Amino acid sequence: MSSKIAAAPKTPQPASTPEVASLRAAHLMPLPGPMYAKPIQIVSGQMQFLYDENGKEYLDGFAGVATVSIGHSHPHFVRMMKNQIDQLQHNPPLYLHPAVGAFAKRLADKAKTVNPDMEVCFFTNSGSEANEMAAFVAKTYTGRHDFIAVQRSYHGRTLLTTALTGQHNWRNQQPYPVGISFAPTDYAYRFEGTPEQSTAAALRGLEAVLNTSTSGKIAGFYAETIMGVGGLITPGHSYFATAADMIRAHGGLFICDEVQAGVGRTGEHYFGIKHWNARPDILVMAKGLGNGYPIGAIITTKAIAQAMAGLLHYNTFGGGPMAMAAANAVMDVVEKDDLADNSKKVGDRLLAGLRKLQQKNERVGDVRGMGLMVGVELVKDRKSREFSPELTVRVVESMKDQGVLVGKGGLEGNTVRIQPPLCWTAADADRTVAALEQALKDA
Ligand SMILES: Cc1ncc(COP(=O)(O)O)c(C=O)c1O
Repeated sequence: MSSKIAAAPKTPQPASTPEVASLRAAHLMPLPGPMYAKPIQIVSGQMQFLYDENGKEYLDGFAGVATVSIGHSHPHFVRMMKNQIDQLQHNPPLYLHPAVGAFAKRLADKAKTVNPDMEVCFFTNSGSEANEMAAFVAKTYTGRHDFIAVQRSYHGRTLLTTALTGQHNWRNQQPYPVGISFAPTDYAYRFEGTPEQSTAAALRGLEAVLNTSTSGKIAGFYAETIMGVGGLITPGHSYFATAADMIRAHGGLFICDEVQAGVGRTGEHYFGIKHWNARPDILVMAKGLGNGYPIGAIITTKAIAQAMAGLLHYNTFGGGPMAMAAANAVMDVVEKDDLADNSKKVGDRLLAGLRKLQQKNERVGDVRGMGLMVGVELVKDRKSREFSPELTVRVVESMKDQGVLVGKGGLEGNTVRIQPPLCWTAADADRTVAALEQALKDA
């Protein structure tokens, strides 16, 4: 498997970290970050490694929030982007360009693995915008406007996608459009009963929401395959197929948000939803699709897409030649290096290591996820399962000091998120488990 290509960082930036931090604080809209009490400045990257301004190396376990799928400055990606910028940098949808239709076919062919009728794409600049477009298409196709989303979900930062997000701290743009209801989460770790009972209860909850909070006729159901921002909550195996059937019985579309789970991250398959054998009507992608170059996409069937015929809509940058070069480069590498397979192998090793740690340390409440989309929920103790957000902050900081960058998530802020570039090796997984073990000791 591909690994570090050049150990040396590229030319460091001259500015010191305090200077950089104070410029950001003075001239950017107040932001929640930077992430660490002792913030870091990243100036270069190679595959799964990042470098600060002093050349200190970090193992990247968060991939710029599940975005750098094939690796930082992957040589094939760099070559494809350089070639494209030399040739043509921008092309609006007004003129034909050879890349966009060809890549749409390439992506739709992948989507046929989860729905054989998938044929049509629409490209955007972000996941939020792609989710917006999915709603537009679903409303147009069904002639309805009610949507159901899932509690603890995250779907983006536009007005509509914030309204579709089921976490109070992200729901900060009131008032919201009417017609959005929330179904309960299949959150087995926090359910009093077996995982199967958790799934059955979540499905009963969805049926109840359909029958009590909507007119019974809906435009669509939004669900992340595995919740990313929500803390890697992973529904049970029967959840999505049953949920999708239920939604279709009420005339709605199953809009599957694979902004984080797509591109092979969950292992074995290009799309995470394949693990559940559920058929989405619209797939939503972004993040890893472009390895950090801004791109989003929806993929749907010809019959659904046809509803948009004659409706004026437009996107200045969507499907532009640079975005298509990025997406083609990513897909080339995912296929050539079989990164979905690597994600499964390295992810299984990571999960096994973390589960061993869970046996030894009762602060490790739950270990969940698939492939290289893994969450570790930290708690006060095994019995109470009390959320431990302060411990999580200390653990993530300590791992950074040990040279391993991971994320933090979950509504209660107590889940360590491990979502690295898909070129991670077994040694990277082992190192991360060891760093987490040490961090728990330090904390
Ligand atoms: C599942 C999911 N959907 C949508 C989005 C929004 O994507 P973007 O930040 O590109 O707008 C995100 C971003 O984190 C996400 O995780």
